[in-house]
Amino acid sequence: MKTLKTQIAIIGAGPSGLLLGQLLHNAGIETLILERQTPDYVLGRIRAGVLEQGMVELLRQAGVGQRMDAEGLVHEGFELALNGRLQHIDLKSLTGGKTVMIYGQTEVTRDLMAAREQAGAITFYEARNVQPHDLKGERPWLTFEHQGQQVRVDCDYIAGCDGFHGVARQSIPSDVLKTFERVYPFGWLGILADTPPVHDELVYAKHPRGFALCSMRSSSRSRYYLQVPAAESIDAWSDQRFWDELKARLPTDLAAQLVTGPSIEKSIAPLRSFVVEPMQYGRLFLLGDAAHIVPPTGAKGLNLAAGDVSTLFTILCKVYREGRVELLEKYSQICLRRIWKAERFSWWMTSMLHQFPEADGFSQRIAQSELEYFVESEAGRKTIAENYVGLPYEAIQ
Ligand code: APR
Ligand code: PHB
Repeated sequence: MKTLKTQIAIIGAGPSGLLLGQLLHNAGIETLILERQTPDYVLGRIRAGVLEQGMVELLRQAGVGQRMDAEGLVHEGFELALNGRLQHIDLKSLTGGKTVMIYGQTEVTRDLMAAREQAGAITFYEARNVQPHDLKGERPWLTFEHQGQQVRVDCDYIAGCDGFHGVARQSIPSDVLKTFERVYPFGWLGILADTPPVHDELVYAKHPRGFALCSMRSSSRSRYYLQVPAAESIDAWSDQRFWDELKARLPTDLAAQLVTGPSIEKSIAPLRSFVVEPMQYGRLFLLGDAAHIVPPTGAKGLNLAAGDVSTLFTILCKVYREGRVELLEKYSQICLRRIWKAERFSWWMTSMLHQFPEADGFSQRIAQSELEYFVESEAGRKTIAENYVGLPYEAIQ
């Protein structure tokens, strides 16, 4: 068996693993990344596209902000469509100057992969059967198979950045973990199309037929979503049906401006809220989707991953430079404070904006008036805006 040594072994080359790897590499801390898929497979997944300012700054700090700053779209607000009208949420004025950046997760991942390759840091793609060992000991290690060869990696710490279905969380004894979960009775049917976005800002639409979202990747590429039943089959949705349904859920003026075209990607994602506590077991740390999932209505999934990366990176720097090993025990509680606030916001936005099949008339009226109140009141808009641009990262002393 081939044996390798590193300081931080990272499982997963999604945005969490790659961003952590880049920050650590720049700080002189050695990493190895083990990824189950090929780079093309990882880049083929179409995911979210709204970056909070904290994540934007972290990407710049990691030295991968150039293309994002050149090609990303800074959005100073977004629209909530309700009762056939658009209601503007002016993020910038409501938050004392904060904005968000529209730049696809796929592009973030592409930039991080290129930077890692350029830095000469090692990633094993198509790493099969990754298994962590001795997590409670001083010297944890991992085994995996690569191109038919058995490999062992000895390390100081393991970062589990392997997403919701990864091995990291599953390697923690189940009696240690507490799981909190809510599954919603609907999913999002998304399409990507090379058509100009219907509006220059994102539009989140509440409608009796179900929720709809108008998003974008650039000035010539649109991303749209429709709330659909949880068990919906993608085959039931031709492009034409999608466009017709989207039009039906948007205010008439906006629907009239919608430019349609062939979809270049179409998929259905279930909606779920999920958190595990704690996010650490011995020398294994969970980051991003490995530890938590939010429904996409608040645009928080990717940004929460960045928060975990920032926290673990800051702690590891203090561990290696100042010997502050006691901080490792605080990783989980620091992350979870911010995560739960984003879980609450994502659940709340989801509850207000969607049609719940089981909801009685009373619940429907409450959700409707809650949204009306929040968009009509400046205090309400401020609450939405403050959460949407992202709550601050906690300082680590
Ligand atoms: N061994 C190695 N790699 C694995 C394993 C495994 N057993 N299981 C999963 N992986 C890889 C996946 O192939 C994937 O590339 O781990 C990576 C996890 O990436 P993501 O699922 O993108 O998760 P993360 O990096 O935490 O990204 C944050 O937040 O809400 C979401 O859309 C958002 O996907 C984004 C996520
Ligand atoms: C997206 O562009 O994919 C997107 C934008 C905002 C969301 C969710 C998804 O809240």
